[in-house]
This record gives sequence, structure tokens and C-alpha cells, in this order.
Amino acid sequence: MQQHLSINDEVRKFLSQDKLLLIDGQWQESRSEKTINVENPANGDTLSQLIHGGQEDINRAVEAARKAFDSGPWRSMTGSERSRRLWKLADLIEQNTDTFAQLESLDNGKPYTVAKAADVPLSVDIFRYMAGWSTKIHGKTIPLSVPYTPDSSYLSYTLKEPVGVIGQIIPWNFPLLMAAWKLAPALACGNTVVLKPAEQTSLSALKLGELIMEAGIPEGVVNIVTGHGDTGSFLVDHPMVDKLAFTGSTEVGKQIVRGASGNLKKVSLELGGKSPNIIFADADIEAAIEGAANAIFFNHGQCCCAGSRLYVEKSVYDKVLSGVCDFADKIKLGNGFDLSTQMGPLISREQFDKVCSYIDSGKREGAVVQAGGSGLDQAGYFVKPTVLAKTHKNMQVVREEIFGPVVAAIPFSSEEELIEEANDSNYGLAAGIWSQDVSKAHKVAEKLRAGTVWVNCYNIFDASLPFGGYKESGWGREMGDEVLNLYLETKSVCIKK
Ligand code: NAI
Ligand code: MG
Repeated sequence: MQQHLSINDEVRKFLSQDKLLLIDGQWQESRSEKTINVENPANGDTLSQLIHGGQEDINRAVEAARKAFDSGPWRSMTGSERSRRLWKLADLIEQNTDTFAQLESLDNGKPYTVAKAADVPLSVDIFRYMAGWSTKIHGKTIPLSVPYTPDSSYLSYTLKEPVGVIGQIIPWNFPLLMAAWKLAPALACGNTVVLKPAEQTSLSALKLGELIMEAGIPEGVVNIVTGHGDTGSFLVDHPMVDKLAFTGSTEVGKQIVRGASGNLKKVSLELGGKSPNIIFADADIEAAIEGAANAIFFNHGQCCCAGSRLYVEKSVYDKVLSGVCDFADKIKLGNGFDLSTQMGPLISREQFDKVCSYIDSGKREGAVVQAGGSGLDQAGYFVKPTVLAKTHKNMQVVREEIFGPVVAAIPFSSEEELIEEANDSNYGLAAGIWSQDVSKAHKVAEKLRAGTVWVNCYNIFDASLPFGGYKESGWGREMGDEVLNLYLETKSVCIKK
């Protein structure tokens, strides 16, 4: 029997409220008259209206963040005090798990069960992990030789200081989690932020804004301005922003780099991918089949690290392919509020059209559809989990990011040829290897040009594990201690003794 969740009281109340902008610790109206309709992608229902923030709104938000950074208490607060407030925020998110899971499901389409099991706990965890760093950020002492002053000696040390006002622009595939990945390290380091959530999915960020104030994070430290891409571009262009952190398409990432050149603000980018997932004949084949299916179909393929190119050693290719197709055929598509749903709709009409047109281009170029191959003929943006065989390296479906539940399967016979093909991409975000030969797995992992390599697993994320891309998949690493580099400046102090 299908169990359908009902909207809880908190979510109902939240949806009925006006959605304002969080600026300088207050929920403020916009000077822009423009709004954005928020749609449930599972059925097209209108959920709410958002403000489409304009230049004026971004100016006010940046000024608030500037003032909070230059003269507010956040930056000078002890690490321990900052840590306590970030930890409190984590607790508040955790206490609101059901509300966030419902909001994510309504707004993004993903199953409630997935949001509850993955998106929300990972968001809680990154705030706790980064809260721990607040008290552990420090420089070092450095002995100097200075060959041209042989008679002098020096004490020198480095200070680690926050970068300043950070603009953060995030996408719609993991709305709360992307906000958490961005905010937690920036705040732990003592920066102030203007966050621009994705126009499709801003609800959980606005809810998070309420909790940020409740957690005692001072006014102006986190400002949230909703809007479209142009709202984001005002932030990119703003001369008072010291650094811009972006997750989204490679195309917009390149525009951001150009826009940021005005005041040479620092930029970090987490962009697209076309990640190879490699199954060797000596793998645990059942585990590899399930792993390969989850690598592409998790979050409906709307993951920057989706295992969208499936390379399978020739001797096991037919077996693996038929296993992945069986898996795809059995996935239950539906509304994220049905507790038995395994896969929801894509985020929007635009993404639905884009993904379907990629499937068509694959067919035109000679790929054979072994599973799925079309959208569902019903309300909502559902696309069937799709497996394309007889694909080769020059096809669009093998070269370009589809960002949907579509995998291109490719057989290989030699390791050398495999490495060359796997690396033959403008992207370099992630990769998977399935083999029981540990020594081979290590060697192949070394040769792959990717920021993350998963062996006998896929989509494993942890607050402590750096994540980011080689090549056109981005600049910098998020999470772990490495993310601190994105949000800290190093000051060298040199004192003559
Ligand atoms: P997008 O890159 O246009 O949007 C991501 C964020 O950037 C949103 O908040 C958007 O409002 C903002 N934005 C858009 N144009 C901007 C501009 N000129 N200046 C500043 N901010 C701007 O991604 P979109 O259009 O939602 O999806 C298109 C494709 O991008 C997808 O099909 C997928 O291939 C890729 N994508 C990759 C993601 C990732 O996690 N790496 C996430 C979302 C999309
Ligand atoms: Mg776009």
C-alpha cells in the first residue's frame, strides 16, 4: 500500500508566509517588484512566491555584510564562541529534520526519505565539523635565513584571517546541503556572507535563515537574497565583495570568472562533471551493478559527480549491462511524498527538455536504448532511468554533462585504452573503480584525472573529505581542512629581534 505523507504544520505555516530577504538580521521587503513562482516539480502546483532580487537588494545585502565584517562582533569573537553558535545552528537544523526533508521534497522533487536520510544529516554534520575548526585555525612560526642580513635575526609567523565579504551562489540539486557546504566553512573562518540560492529551490535556504538568527549568529553575518541568474551576477560584479564561491554549470562558472575580474575578487568554483565509473571483470559484479546504477540514478542523475560514463571490461559487459537495466526498470518513480518513491521528477521543464533532447541525440547518433529512454507522459518532469548502449567517445551523450538519469555504457578491453578514454574529457570531478584487485585499483586511481576517486563505492561524502574538480570541473576544494584555504587569507608578520 502506498503511504502518502501529509505536509506538517510547520511547513504549511512556512509556505503561507511571505518570503522576504534576510538583510542585516531583518526580513526585508525588496525594492524590486519582480517575483518568482515556486513550483512543485512533481505536479506543477504552485508552492509559494519568491522575490526576484535586484541590484538594490544586492547592494543593501553586501553593505550589511561589509559592515558586519568591518565593525561587527563576528570576526573578533573567540573561536570558541563562534563554534558554539555554529553547533547550535546544527542542533536547530537537526530538530527541524522533518520540516527540511518536506521542504526539499516539495521544492526539488527528491523523495522525502532521501532528503531525510542524506541531505539533512549531511547538512547538520558539516556545521558540526566546521564548528570544530573555529577553534583550530592558526598560523605557524617560520625560521628565516635572510642571506643579505647575516647579522640580524627575526621572529616571523603567519596569521590566518578571514577573507571578508563572501558572495555564495548555489544550485538546486541539493538546496539545503549546498547552502550548508558554503556557509559552514565561511562562517567558521569568521567571514560574512551574501547567499544567493537557486531560483528553483530557495525555500530551505530561507528556512535556514530563520534558524541562523535563532542560533545567535549576529545581524549582517548571513544575508540571503533570492533571485535569478541576474541577481547572482550583481553579486559577482560587486566591488565590495572579496570572494565569490559558486556551484553550478561550467558555463556560468566561466562567466563568473570574467565578472569577478573587476576587483579581482577571489573565486572558487564547483562545476560540472562527466565522471567515469569503471567496472573490471574481477569486481564483485553484483555490488558493482548496484553501485553503477546508484552512481547515475541517485538524485535522478542531477549530481555534478554522477557516474554518467560506465566503462565495463568486455568479458563482463553483457552481464553488467543487463543487471543495470534490470535495476533501472525496477526503480519506482513518483511523488517524493509517497514513501515508496525511489526517484522523483527532474527539477524543471527546462531540465526535462534538456535531458530528453540528450536521449534523442544519443539515438540519432546510433546509441541503443536498453532501459528507459523517454519521459513519463504525465504531470511532473519525470524521466525514466535510461541506459544507452553502443555509445562511443565522440557522441554528445558521452562528452557532455546531461544532468539527468542517463548513463552511457562503453566496453573496454585494455587498461591503457580505458585510462585514455576515461581521462578524455574536459571535466575531472570524480571517478569510480570496481575491482577486487586492490593493487590495480590503487594504480588506476592514481592515473585518473579527477578530484575524487571512489573504489568499490560511489557517492560517499563526508565533511572531512575534500571535494572538487580537476580541469573544467572547478577551482579549489570544499570540505575537510582544505576548504579553509578558500576562506582564509595568510598574513606574514616579520619582527626584527
Ligand atoms: P546555473 O549554473 O545557471 O545556475 C546555478 C546558480 O547560478 C543559480 O543560483 C543561478 O541563479 C546562478 N546563476 C545563473 N546565471 C548566473 C550568472 N550569470 N551570474 C551569477 N549567477 C548565475 O545552472 P542551471 O541553469 O540551473 O542548470 C544548467 C546546467 O548546469 C545543468 O543542466 C547542469 O548540467 C549544470 N548544473 C551543475 C550543477 C553542479 O552541481 N555542478 C548544479 C546545477 C546545474
Ligand atoms: Mg542557467
